Amino acid sequence: MTGNPSASLRPRKRLLTGLQPSGQLHIGNYFGALKPFLDTYKEYESFLMVVDYHALTTLRDPQALRANLIDAVRSYLAVGIDPKEATLFQQSKVSQHTELAWVFECLVTVPFLMQAHAYKDKVAKGLEPNAGLFNYPMLMAADILLYDTDIVPVGQDQRQHIEYAREAAAKFNNAFGQTFTEPAEKISDEIAVIPGTDGKKMSKSYGNTIPLFGSRDEIAKAVMSIVTDSDSAVPQNVYAIHRLIRSEAELAPLYKEHEGKYKALKEALIEDLDAYLLPMRERYNAITEADVKAVLEDGSARAREIAETKMKDVRAKLGVAL
Ligand code: TYM
Repeated sequence: MTGNPSASLRPRKRLLTGLQPSGQLHIGNYFGALKPFLDTYKEYESFLMVVDYHALTTLRDPQALRANLIDAVRSYLAVGIDPKEATLFQQSKVSQHTELAWVFECLVTVPFLMQAHAYKDKVAKGLEPNAGLFNYPMLMAADILLYDTDIVPVGQDQRQHIEYAREAAAKFNNAFGQTFTEPAEKISDEIAVIPGTDGKKMSKSYGNTIPLFGSRDEIAKAVMSIVTDSDSAVPQNVYAIHRLIRSEAELAPLYKEHEGKYKALKEALIEDLDAYLLPMRERYNAITEADVKAVLEDGSARAREIAETKMKDVRAKLGVAL
C-alpha cells in the first residue's frame, strides 16, 4: 500500500512490534513476541522492526551491534516471517522515528518519564541511567504511532510502554488536533512472561536463557541448569517451559510416569525442544547476510514512505513546515 490513508479507509488493521538487537534471541523472545506475531500477522497489515537505536541505550560496541542486527533479522526470517507479507525494517533507517521522539519529549514532563520501570530499575540498582534510557518510552511511542498502529503484540514487560505511547498520542492530539491512533497492546495470558532456567522472567541480563538457535548441546546445558529445588512431584520450572511446546494432555502421562524424577523430565524436555527448534535452526543457518540486507533495504524503504507521510502532517501541525 502506498501513502497513508486514514485508519477508517484501510482494509486491514495495522499490527506492529519490535525487538532490540541485543544478542542471541532466546525462547522467551520467541514465545513472548515472535510466535504471537507469526500466528496472526497475515490477518493484518503488519510491521516488524529491529530497534537498533533503542539498543544504543545499553550497547556501545559497533561490531556487536552490527552482528546482533544481522542476527535479529535472520532470526525473524528463520522463524517463518515472510517479508512479502510483513514490512520488516530497521529503526535507524527511518529517521522519522527519532524526529518524532523529540516532538513527544517536548510534550511530556520529566516526572512522567520518571515513572518508567526500566528507568526506575536502573536507579534502584544504583546505576547511572543515560538520557537515552530516560527518553526510551518516547522513541518507542514514535515507533508505534508513526504507523497508525492499532495493535502491538508484546510480552507483559512492555505493557507500560504501550501506555506511554497512548499518552503521547493523546497529548499530541489534544495540543494539535487529532493526528495519532491510540494503540492497544496484545498480551496473551499464558505467554505473558516466559520463565527462564531460574523461574524468573527469561532475560539475557539475568543469564537464565535457552537460546532459540543454539545447538542441541547448548539447549541441553541450559535445560540441565533449570532450578528444581521445589519439593513437589512436578518440577515447576521444567513444566512451565515444556508447556510451551506440548499440551497439558500430552504432558500429563509423561509427568505421571516420571513423578519426582527431575533428570528424566529434563531429558524429555531437551528431546522435545530440540525437535521443535531444529527446522528453524536449519533455516537460520541457510540465510545469508546478503538476504538480510536485501530484506531490510526493501522493508525500510516501505516504512519510510509511510513515516514521511505522517511526519509531513505532524510538521505542518507543529508550525515548522514553511
Ligand atoms: P525486547 O527486545 O526486550 O523484547 C522483545 C519482545 O520479547 C518479549 N519478551 C518476552 N516475553 C515473554 N517472556 C519473556 N521472558 C520475554 N522476554 C522478552 C518482550 O515483551 C517484547 O515484546 N521495548 C521493546 C522493543 C520495542 C518495541 C517497539 C516493541 C521498541 N519499539 C515498538 C513493540 C513496539 C523491547 O525492549 O523488547
